[in-house]
Amino acid sequence: METNVYTQPKLPYAPDALAPIISAETISYHWGKHEKTYIDNLNKLIRDTEWEDTALEDIIRTADGPLFNNASQAWNHIFYFFSFNPDGGGEPTGDLAEAIKRDFGTFEEFKRLFEEAGVGLFGSGWVWLSQDKDGKLFITQGPNAANPLTQGLTPILTFDVWEHAYYLDYQNRRAEALHKLWDIVDWNVVGSRYTKKL
Ligand SMILES: [Fe+2]
Repeated sequence: METNVYTQPKLPYAPDALAPIISAETISYHWGKHEKTYIDNLNKLIRDTEWEDTALEDIIRTADGPLFNNASQAWNHIFYFFSFNPDGGGEPTGDLAEAIKRDFGTFEEFKRLFEEAGVGLFGSGWVWLSQDKDGKLFITQGPNAANPLTQGLTPILTFDVWEHAYYLDYQNRRAEALHKLWDIVDWNVVGSRYTKKL
């Protein structure tokens, strides 16, 4: 039987393309080393186990301990890095723009609440925009390898608030690091993840 071996996808931009918001050095460590390690660990943990034939999202929904941590970190970083584009920024359009307006009032207010949730998370973790099956949007935050898939939600956007995501470029200035990321969000990609009704 063919089994899952996860490989690190190639980023859709050059390592220095997001600078100065995310430097080539951060890409080299964060994507090149941290994310690679999560994927390598995931492959080691599932080899010759019942998890070998389980979809990654289902591992995240049901596993715990080191397997959950490495599976979720592997998934989260791909989701995070594929949300960016050197030509990104601006505002979402279409269904996602309407849903943000409906659930948060304005795009500016959504960004403020999202940044606030990221800055307010103590220690390492992630801040998320997700939707439920009826298309309602939620901002959540969670520690370590948290992922809204475990809460029955579908992720739309995430910012990594582990120090390894920003320390080389912003040192301890997490708020500034998160605020700058809006300028590289690829709303075409992020908007395509939203569905009015699942
Ligand atoms: Fe990270």
